[in-house]
Amino acid sequence: MDKILSSFIVFEGLDGAGTTTQIRNLARYYEFNRREYYLTAEPTDNPIGQLVRKVLQKKIVTTPEALALLYAADRHDHIFSESHGLLRMSEEGRIVISDRYFYSSIAYQSVECDPSFILSINRFPLPQVIVFIDTPVDVCMERIEKRGGEKELFDRASFLSKVRDNYLEAFSSLPEGVSLITIDGALSEEEVESRIRRELSALSL
Ligand code: TYD
Repeated sequence: MDKILSSFIVFEGLDGAGTTTQIRNLARYYEFNRREYYLTAEPTDNPIGQLVRKVLQKKIVTTPEALALLYAADRHDHIFSESHGLLRMSEEGRIVISDRYFYSSIAYQSVECDPSFILSINRFPLPQVIVFIDTPVDVCMERIEKRGGEKELFDRASFLSKVRDNYLEAFSSLPEGVSLITIDGALSEEEVESRIRRELSALSL
């Protein structure tokens, strides 16, 4: 079985699900309790992650498979880099929180690519905890509309509903040792926040 990185918490959800807000709230809570943590996100701000963002903004046009490989390359660097990799950080015992991880690739890239190809390029160490904020597609679409700005590549209701199905399938067969916390994202921000805290503290996180 793939290695599990202890104290590695990843947040997953559809665009507009509220993961970024909830990560910020959790970070504030850890701050308050003087817990050491490291906050990160995928796609990263490193050069490969920046390339991914250009594809999302439609400044670079490529194939879905090439984009999937870019996400995986960005992730490999994110985990294994000698200078800034999460692997070492987790092994040093720090709480690491990531806004998205390879489950995003399984959910999003499998809509347009062969799912077995996506799985094969995403053999990465497993997180200890996945926080899945399960927000209904129509609520996500409303939030995306409200944000305004240019729509990104994956901001379509029909697409997001396939992404949700893929998430649910991936989470239905998680290996032992990986904890899944699913929170109804239609609840208020405060309620989502307190449920996440409660579930994490039950895991001593
Ligand atoms: P997101 O975290 O939503 O970025 P932003 O801060 O711009 O809201 O991620 C950007 C998009 O990339 C989002 O639509 C989800 C998608 N994505 C994938 O399709 N595959 C992946 O592996 C990752 C990490 C993200």
